[in-house]
Amino acid sequence: MDAKTAKTKNAKLTVGDNSWDFPIYDGTIGPSVIDISKLYAATGQFTYDPGFTSTGSCESKITYIDGDEGILLYRGYPIEQLAEHGDFLETCYLLLYGELPTPSQKAEFDYTVTRHTMVHEQMSRFLQGFRRDAHPMAILVGSVGALSAFYHDSTDISDPVQRMIASIRMIAKVPTLSAMAYKYSIGQPFVYPKNELDYSSNFLRMCFAVPCEEYKVNPVLARAMDRIFILHADHEQNASTSTVRLAGSSGANPFACIAAGCACLWGPAHGGANEAALKMLAEIGTPERIPEYVKRAKDKNDSFRLMGFGHRVYKNYDPRAKIMQKTCHEVLAELGIKDDPLLDVAMELERIALHDEYFIEKKLYPNIDFYSGITLKAMGFPTTMFTVLFALARTVGWIGQWKEMIEDPNQKIGRPRQLYTGATSRDYIPMSRRK
Ligand code: SDX
Repeated sequence: MDAKTAKTKNAKLTVGDNSWDFPIYDGTIGPSVIDISKLYAATGQFTYDPGFTSTGSCESKITYIDGDEGILLYRGYPIEQLAEHGDFLETCYLLLYGELPTPSQKAEFDYTVTRHTMVHEQMSRFLQGFRRDAHPMAILVGSVGALSAFYHDSTDISDPVQRMIASIRMIAKVPTLSAMAYKYSIGQPFVYPKNELDYSSNFLRMCFAVPCEEYKVNPVLARAMDRIFILHADHEQNASTSTVRLAGSSGANPFACIAAGCACLWGPAHGGANEAALKMLAEIGTPERIPEYVKRAKDKNDSFRLMGFGHRVYKNYDPRAKIMQKTCHEVLAELGIKDDPLLDVAMELERIALHDEYFIEKKLYPNIDFYSGITLKAMGFPTTMFTVLFALARTVGWIGQWKEMIEDPNQKIGRPRQLYTGATSRDYIPMSRRK
């Protein structure tokens, strides 16, 4: 990793009669950081930041988010421009290599990824070990981890060639595994990838084609799928990306690290929110019932939260949500879905929430998960597949952040400390003396 931009000034920490200076580094954009890596050695004390709300875990050049301005940049390019003008594999190239590909680089990257989309034939037997009603995320977590049992020739993380092969393999094979998880859950035969199709068309065909008839990909839906993948590709040091970085810091193989990221993403507070948001809209059912749920969301004694609202970083509109909303309307129009009751509830809920003082005060805006569920349901995916689609897209972000961490000469194993408030030292009590 290059040296950080010049150290501009120091931060002074004073505890009692002692004070210490810690260097402050400025990035190219965004908040500066106070380097406290020497704090424990100097003061004998730790910092304390559960949830890492004020902690920068690493230096990165990949993705920048400005939560107050609603800005998201992949390698400096605004998400709105990439989603409008590019395709998902171009975004993958950009995130991995740091620059937009030339026409020949793009053609070669597309060719390489396309020819890694098949999985080892024994993976189909691996999947058949799951119960038919297994959640597709359970299958994805298991099968991505299992890739390390099939592709030993790309698990040596010290070899840059193997790191790139593993990266390409995951970007190429996770859609195939995702489609297999879906097909298995509905009892239909697996569909092999077709090299003449683009990435998102190939994925839609693997999900929805059946052997009994030719499947024609709807180009509007393929474009929408591709744009949804672009929106979900990376997002700075979110929970699942931090999981991948921490797993990778121990030297675990890349397949195991991405499986760990999938597992973390599954949570309803994170990538599982799209499935939870759609279930919430269905439970609300009609616009008339919205006030009852808004009241519950505000009730401190009620654990209910409006799924698809709020974000740790975005304290303004999630820029992805705006594009997601536009894509949602395009898909519904293409499919001739005029009065989707879920969309009616979503639009009214958004209108109410954006004018409610509680949500304004807490800066709770719709996030990317708010409209994605309606769109994916209209495209034919069951709610259980929503987080799988998020994981499929985020695989490139996880891989890019993992590679950046591995290639950082200052990288070391991640090992946080704690504030201990448990029992002080005490002697063992023999069983005979316990009451
Ligand atoms: C993703 O990090 C990323 O970048 C993630 C992601 C990515 O691309 O990787 O963007 C993807 O995970 C999007 C978020 C999807 N999750 C949801 O939609 C679930 C619902 N949202 C909440 O669970 C919550 O908003 C979080 C988890 C997203 C963020 O939580 P924070 O930043 O820890 O905020 P918080 O829980 O401390 O909430 C602050 C206040 C609290 O009230 P007070 O305790 O201050 O009185 O806002 C309230 C919360 O009760 N609040 C909500 C709410 N979200 C926060 N109240 C009602 N409904 C909500 N959705």
